[in-house]
Amino acid sequence: MESADFDTALALLEWQVELGATEAIGDAPVDCYALPATLGKPKATAAVAAATPARAEVDPVAEARAAAAAAVDLPGLAAALGVFEHCALKRGASNLVFSDGTPGARVMIVGEAPGRDEDLAGKPFVGRAGQLLDRMLAAIDMGRATAEAPVYITNVLPWRPPRNRDPQPEEIAMMRPFLERHIALANPQVIVIMGNISAQALLGKRGITRLRGSWTEAQGRPALPMFHPAYLLRQPAAKRDAWSDLLSLKARLGTG
Ligand code: URA
Repeated sequence: MESADFDTALALLEWQVELGATEAIGDAPVDCYALPATLGKPKATAAVAAATPARAEVDPVAEARAAAAAAVDLPGLAAALGVFEHCALKRGASNLVFSDGTPGARVMIVGEAPGRDEDLAGKPFVGRAGQLLDRMLAAIDMGRATAEAPVYITNVLPWRPPRNRDPQPEEIAMMRPFLERHIALANPQVIVIMGNISAQALLGKRGITRLRGSWTEAQGRPALPMFHPAYLLRQPAAKRDAWSDLLSLKARLGTG
């Protein structure tokens, strides 16, 4: 068989487990009735069970909290994510997607998760949605590295979900401590919450159509939920609302 990529291999393994093939027991069939001393278990399984010390349960959220809290600056936080091994998404990703733009900017934009282009580039919002985001920001004289009005950009998840599926609640919960620490270290004056996943992670609720445009608070800072640029690409009519939200952001910063 040709070598499969991580996601395909994982899907194959899950399929085998669903079929009941939960143990690797060798090429030759084993007669379980001939094994009275091992309570009917194949010898190999019994031997492995006996030799394996009981493993302490790991709580990935607690691990994430400890790792994030130990980071004292943004490079330290990126390094902590680089060695965090509890999120399976990492194994299928090409790169860690940590941030782009200007650290320390007054505005921090929080998107959802990297797509294919971001995964390859190791930077958030570089694909079509990112290009639209850049045009939206330019329309209010802002940009990733604009001297007068820079922004800083990250995502809820730093690794691309397979086939761009929606992030799962456990993945959001596991990465939230890193996101919260990221916000604390970047220390923006305001947060822009792009889309439903970001609203879920930072506000604990979804429903971006209802939430967008109303200033709220996230991590103790003023926060503005907005439509995600990928949604605007699919629903151009919603750009009108996005424009109104951009003007609200500009006014809030006192640059309008
Ligand atoms: N969508 C996001 O939410 N983030 C990215 O980085 C790219 C697309």
